[in-house]
Amino acid sequence: MRDAHVPSRDRPRLRPERREADQGYTIAASGRQKGGCGGLGAGVATTRSPTIATQMIALDSISKTFRWVAKGQQHEVLALDGVSFDIRREEFLSIIGPSGCGKTTLLRILGSLIEPDAGEVRIEGRAVTKPGPERAMVFQQFGLFPWKTVLDNVKFPLKVRRMPDAEATERARAQLVSVGLDKFESSHPHQLSGGMQQRVGLARALVAEPDILLMDEPFGAIDAQTREAMQEELMKLVAGTGKTVVFVTHDLDEAVLLSDRVVVLARRPGRIRRIMQIELPRPRWEYDARGDRRFAEARRELWELLRGDVRDDEGLGEAPLDRGRTTPALS
Ligand SMILES: Nc1ncnc2c1ncn2[C@@H]1O[C@H](COP(=O)(O)OP(=O)(O)O)[C@@H](O)[C@H]1O
Ligand SMILES: [Mg+2]
Repeated sequence: MRDAHVPSRDRPRLRPERREADQGYTIAASGRQKGGCGGLGAGVATTRSPTIATQMIALDSISKTFRWVAKGQQHEVLALDGVSFDIRREEFLSIIGPSGCGKTTLLRILGSLIEPDAGEVRIEGRAVTKPGPERAMVFQQFGLFPWKTVLDNVKFPLKVRRMPDAEATERARAQLVSVGLDKFESSHPHQLSGGMQQRVGLARALVAEPDILLMDEPFGAIDAQTREAMQEELMKLVAGTGKTVVFVTHDLDEAVLLSDRVVVLARRPGRIRRIMQIELPRPRWEYDARGDRRFAEARRELWELLRGDVRDDEGLGEAPLDRGRTTPALS
């Protein structure tokens, strides 16, 4: 299948990834759509062979303890304890786990917004310690500047990089077209719905063409129907662009729908419980992925991995296996 994998840009190929079979689980990578260009619906579904999947990001033994003093007392929380895994080029990887298990901390370490106490993050083999243009973040609360117009919000990362105004405007406008908001370039964030604001957030993250998109519960503040539309939009936006996406969510359906793999974190302290492959063909908006038998199986498997932690949090204790019951919120 080597021919099927055509990188969207000229980049040095990386050393072959560590085979996950070595870590006790199996891989059979599902394909990502190729061929579009930030486009909607273009491209051909391909199947990627595990042997040609390449490592993009390595998290190596990441640990983080938060320490603070309150009322004269020293407190500390071990948020992450020796977390290691690899993220493949062009992979859509979700991180899921109960509230407080360290998902945001892990994502912020990936973005070099906070430093780990131990371990390192490597991108294409190089240790990273500072934020860089190859990574962009999308936050749950959008993080837009309320006093700036939509266009100026999207231009912001380009202006920071001192791009001439005319070019920045042109690129920001093109990005707004890709998220369907070109008619709103003169609006201010408060004039837009939550879903539209997050599309601005997405356009701002994508405008500088990062290779890696780091998303922290980006649809968590958006109502359920809009959320489904946003999930589909995100799949279409990143398909065929060669981007690697790391997506934090507490929503099992969202994790299954979007991901190539899902990292399940256990709490106290944050450790990897399992990494699960999602065996659903792409593009997933072209069929009823949610109605697929494999979707239901993956979801049930994820829930069974998480239910112990969630029941503990809710003080519910042990329970007989109750497959198919409604999942409570995790976060
Ligand atoms: N800045 C901070 N100061 C102190 N404790 C923190 C800080 N950030 C996170 N924590 C603690 O670290 C743990 C993991 O937090 P977080 O990564 O936000 O979890 P999640 O995103 O999975 O809900 C939690 O116990 C949280 O209270
Ligand atoms: Mg969080």
